[in-house]
Amino acid sequence: MTETELDPPAAIAGLVLAAGQGKRMGSSGPKVLMRVLGEPMLYYIYQALASVIPEETIWTVVGHKRGHVEEAFPRYASRFIHQPSQLGTGHALMCAQPQLQERGVTHCLVVNGDVPMLSSRALEELKRQTLSRQADVAFLTMRLSDPTGYGRVLRDGNGLVERIVEEKDLAPSRNDADEVNAGIYCLDLQRIAPYLDRMDQNNAQGEFYLPQLAELIAADGGCVAAVCDKDGGGELLGVNRPRELVRNEEELRRRVVDFWLDRDVILRNPDQVRIGPRARLEPGCEITGPVEIYGATRIGAWARVDSHVWIADSIVEQSAWIRSFSHLEGAEVKQSAQVGPYARLRQAAVLEPESKVGNFVEVKKAVLGPGSKANHLAYIGDASVGSGANIGAGCITCNYDGRAKHRTVVGDGAFIGSNTALVAPLEIGARAVVGAGSTISKHVPEEFLAVARAKQRNLDRNVSKREKGNGNTGQTGTKDS
Ligand code: UD1
Ligand code: CA
Repeated sequence: MTETELDPPAAIAGLVLAAGQGKRMGSSGPKVLMRVLGEPMLYYIYQALASVIPEETIWTVVGHKRGHVEEAFPRYASRFIHQPSQLGTGHALMCAQPQLQERGVTHCLVVNGDVPMLSSRALEELKRQTLSRQADVAFLTMRLSDPTGYGRVLRDGNGLVERIVEEKDLAPSRNDADEVNAGIYCLDLQRIAPYLDRMDQNNAQGEFYLPQLAELIAADGGCVAAVCDKDGGGELLGVNRPRELVRNEEELRRRVVDFWLDRDVILRNPDQVRIGPRARLEPGCEITGPVEIYGATRIGAWARVDSHVWIADSIVEQSAWIRSFSHLEGAEVKQSAQVGPYARLRQAAVLEPESKVGNFVEVKKAVLGPGSKANHLAYIGDASVGSGANIGAGCITCNYDGRAKHRTVVGDGAFIGSNTALVAPLEIGARAVVGAGSTISKHVPEEFLAVARAKQRNLDRNVSKREKGNGNTGQTGTKDS
């Protein structure tokens, strides 16, 4: 029987179990927010589920530090279900079931929140088999050479599932079982409902185990389907310890690198290239590892990113060049602009085409106009610099007066000398020049030269020593320059 023959048609929802702390991970926050290639594990779960069922049917059980999870995924937060204390995966399901049934959900894909490599292919297969076999409970399984840590699937002489036993409850005699529960289920909500009340905490961990449903339903002669994923390639591996997080991340990293190599992106030293799943690279861009590129970053065609660069949520347009040891977060580097080596572009730093930011320059909430340069040792924050301007070494925009931030505006073609403090709010007119060593706190008109520094005095050390002996003040022997 196919899905379309079911009457009424299945209304499938998703339920992500994300309430646990993940004590074994050594994390103080929710485990599901631990990052894999720059994204929380939960990101990957939502991606996989949303390619199988509509996003607005995906629910999430949250508990431990749930505010953090809500903040990280506001799009899903309206369908969060609170599990006040984490009494186990079975208890998480009990918390969710009334709300799902109220909404007319017939089947529910339940997914542990700590399986970041989960594929839509595996979910599709589980869904298809649940519906076609009309299973009460179906779940994905895999065979592992080292099943340590997983719940084991025990079958009877006819190969039918008897129960799932957690490792801590496993009798030594059954230690040879190598088929494990992947923690991904498809449940017929109406049929499992009566069994929720029959789950208990009589086990080694004193928790309600979701897998106990399989045992209760199988004992009653219900349909329990174990869907063994044979070609999963590690897609169903859970993350319970730091070692497993790193292993999954490394596997995903390799896949992402392969994906981009197939799309004509040049990744040199590929073993040390880390690219997050949301980054987009155009063919012809050239990236050398070690490098990290995360979030919603876009790298344009023929752009070059040298080694030891870290980029998140930034746009690097075509033919731009990011040189080694630069750090970019929320920045925009437009066509043919150059950054670094050793530059830092922070939130809302915008480098217009052909502009240049050199070593030890920090830019934040500032636009550097087309062709403008800040080649060394500067801080440009809350500023707008026109086109063709030159910002000298050691120029600092003093944007903060202790209470509020103020803006600095530098006009087209202005020349700001070395070691200058521009005290905002401030406007420097087009083609104006600021003398080196100046502290500028008043507007400078177009085409004017502003110098604001103490006059130099040269004191003849020998003259002053002599005259000190005579009771002189030392004023004589001074040469003002
Ligand atoms: C679980 C399964 C085990 C399976 C393994 C696969 C149980 C009892 N065991 O074990 O059979 O082989 O997954 O990876 O289910 N969670 C809640 N509320 C809770 C407890 C947990 O939402 O009260 C969430 C966690 O945040 C996590 C998921 O459920 O995302 C799984 O919990 P975890 O403690 O990792 O279960 P395992 O011991 O791995
Ligand atoms: Ca787990």
